[in-house]
Amino acid sequence: MATLFTGIKQLLTFAGDAVPRAGEAMREIGLVKNAEVLVENGLIEAAGPRSVVSRHRLAKKARKVEVNGICLPGFVDSHTHAVFAEPRLKDFSMRAAGASYQEIKAAGGGILSSIGAVRRQSRRAMAEQLAARAAGFLACGTTTAEVKSGYGLSLESELKMLRAVREAQKLTPLEMLPTLLAAHSVPPEFSGDAAKYLAYVTAEILPKAAAEKLAVFADIFCEKGYFTPEQTTAYLKEAASLGLKPKVHSEQLSNYGGTRAGIAAGVLSADHADHVYAQDITAMREAGTIATLLPASNYYLGLTKYPPARELIAAGVPVALATDLNPGTCPCWNMQFVLSAACTHCGMTPEEAFCAATVNGAWALGIGDRVGSVVPGLQADLAFYKADDYRELCYYFGASQCSMTVKKGKIVHGGR
Ligand code: NIG
Ligand code: FE
Repeated sequence: MATLFTGIKQLLTFAGDAVPRAGEAMREIGLVKNAEVLVENGLIEAAGPRSVVSRHRLAKKARKVEVNGICLPGFVDSHTHAVFAEPRLKDFSMRAAGASYQEIKAAGGGILSSIGAVRRQSRRAMAEQLAARAAGFLACGTTTAEVKSGYGLSLESELKMLRAVREAQKLTPLEMLPTLLAAHSVPPEFSGDAAKYLAYVTAEILPKAAAEKLAVFADIFCEKGYFTPEQTTAYLKEAASLGLKPKVHSEQLSNYGGTRAGIAAGVLSADHADHVYAQDITAMREAGTIATLLPASNYYLGLTKYPPARELIAAGVPVALATDLNPGTCPCWNMQFVLSAACTHCGMTPEEAFCAATVNGAWALGIGDRVGSVVPGLQADLAFYKADDYRELCYYFGASQCSMTVKKGKIVHGGR
């Protein structure tokens, strides 16, 4: 039976060409006032003004759901480290007392401190914990999330993380796209020998993850003290040859060359981009690479420098926004907060921020033809908010305004 979501004060459709949005097009939100969305078999059948949708042949007999708020495409959170065993509360206290990312790492904190806990955790416990986190995503209006490994850093533990994502997928309606991030840091067993560790990842972990189809993407942290630009290109090319689509953490802490190294391997997106320079921006525009900005991590780290969203948008680079949920640099799964940070600290307009968190997030995962906008034929992934105007979502901050979330046509949060 069809479902008609009615009483929508404002609907943002993002109707437009099936491509990542750049420049001026990032402001085209497809606003419809007094709207309805008609859903059948998990897909959007019609979306637009009430006067038009209510005349659709399926509208009359459809189950009606009164909304009394605004409707957006479900957020597509295209960069998360949502599998982790424990919060890093010691790092949090150290940082509050003034320690930097590098100082925390030197004191035994940072990425490496998450490894022990992940290696000890059972796959089942990991899957259940992830499913519980997924409920938090859904409650905030996110219907699709990318999820990285990267806290195992051994064959057994990296595969365990990816298998936990697969297992968690059976426990939650949040759609999760897994990423192999074995190249997140050099584990202690390799005593800082990044080349030796990457050779191990390439020989042992990549082929097994690919053969078992455990990941859609492969990612690497290109940064001083982690992996070099040369290693990044070679590693991502190898991953791509095995069918894993490349992504990169680049220019997060310094301008180190990760963006262009990633582009040389054909990355779909270059993520963080805090320290991109003009030549990186030009390379991204020329390659059509999406810049995925993660300003909630800048906020959490107490940084004053944020990624240069205005320069990227002015240059015609499609910008996406994501949470970067992780235990070390961003314990936040609420995309509404990311929108607020993007508007208040990166100079993005609300319209650009919404575009970046929906349609461009979907393209950063290569699935913009299936999710990320509210147009007929696409998956019925919708989020509803108690608001009169869409801008309230990035104006009020610190709490979720999401009243109902719909995944593939089914109400999966709220709505009662
Ligand atoms: O995206 N930069 C590397 N990875 C994460 C941090 C992970 C951690 O500190 O646990 C990030 O910020
Ligand atoms: Fe990250």
